Amino acid sequence: MINIPKGTKDVLPSESYKWQYVESVARELASLFNAKEIRTPTFEHTELFSRGVGDTTDIVTKEMYTFLDKGNRSITLKPEGTAGAGRAFIENGLIGGVLPAKMFYITPAFRYERPQAGRLREFHQFGVEVFGASGADTDAETIMLADSLLKKLGLSVKLFINSIGCPTCRAAYNKALKDFFAAHLDELCFDCKSRFEKNPLRLLDCKEEGCKKINSGAPSILDYLCEDCSAHFEALKEFLTLAGISYEINPRIVRGLDYYTRTVFEFVSDSIGAQGTVCGGGRYDGLIKQLGGNDCPAVGFAAGIERLLMVMEASGVQIPQPAPVKVYLAGMNDECRKKAFELAATLRKNGVIAETDHMNRSIKAQFKYADKLGAEFVAVIGESELSEGAFNLKNMSTGESEKVSFASAVEYFSK
Ligand code: HAM
Repeated sequence: MINIPKGTKDVLPSESYKWQYVESVARELASLFNAKEIRTPTFEHTELFSRGVGDTTDIVTKEMYTFLDKGNRSITLKPEGTAGAGRAFIENGLIGGVLPAKMFYITPAFRYERPQAGRLREFHQFGVEVFGASGADTDAETIMLADSLLKKLGLSVKLFINSIGCPTCRAAYNKALKDFFAAHLDELCFDCKSRFEKNPLRLLDCKEEGCKKINSGAPSILDYLCEDCSAHFEALKEFLTLAGISYEINPRIVRGLDYYTRTVFEFVSDSIGAQGTVCGGGRYDGLIKQLGGNDCPAVGFAAGIERLLMVMEASGVQIPQPAPVKVYLAGMNDECRKKAFELAATLRKNGVIAETDHMNRSIKAQFKYADKLGAEFVAVIGESELSEGAFNLKNMSTGESEKVSFASAVEYFSK
């Protein structure tokens, strides 16, 4: 027996309707906001992520599924969707097309993390990226899309926002952070000691208890924003209020990817434990240039589908079940089974969900099977029904039976 790899999950036929539901709500909302779907490859050149996501991030240093292909190229399974969407935006000349370009994706993503509830090695994201617009109204609209999705799925989550400024104000803030953390260097964890030199902002993100305690006294980025970034953040708050979205400012939110500038945000649920961040995103005005394009502002988010489903389950959200089998056609003998087969084919051609026997079961066993399927009706075809040209139709919820001619079957079930 070969088992499933650690940190991955099967979505079984009995569960897949839940995924389809979340995906269809996401697609509907994306189209309401005029975002069109983009599909990019599952793997990209490794450099896209080291350059895009940032080579000091945990994702790039520890978590990527990277391998050499048979042509000796370094290839990486996408750990997230933004870098690939950005690459496709540049490579396909969309940067010179109609802007803003709003797009969404539903994609698997791969990170070699320590698996636990809500943290997988293969997971799935619904993401939205908007390229070309720099104003805070676009950030607010992107947040509004995420907020609408979470509300439509019945989730009660909290929105935290922050601004991490632009490279100019970040330089002053990084210096202030270094001055602060220099006095605590001995008390920091191993990872934070190396982050101290390379990317002090990352220190604020550490999950180690000791580091978290020190972090609480660190200076706030909001006190270091330059005039433009500060005005952008003020405008964001105003647009969120206009959109009727409540938020909390949390200056500790820095996100785990290096491309962010100005707005960052997270939607967090407290019903599934430590991995409660169901959705995260922000503005990334430098990424397109960094990947070889022109200067082009952008903003987006991604929501983890597994986490959305976990929160929905924990909050008792009822997901609409798929339509059941309308009619199960039971045949008494080989000749009757052929008629059942033919009628099932005709009904399906006319949009009626029909099922019939494929296991040579007795009539009693066929009824049992139809019941397990949740079939609304069972049509029994025996010798006499065959010669009459009509089946005996049992309504499985009322127990009532009636005769329905083969010729009127389609009309009967299409009512
Ligand atoms: P992220 O915060 O790394 O951002 O991931 C977004 C969401 O994906 C998380 O909030 C979480 O729900 C889900 N997620 C992340 N890692 C895992 C995991 N190991 N297992 C299960 N779910 C996970 C990004 O990926 C950015 N690309 C978002 C973005 C788009 N920013 C701008 N545009």
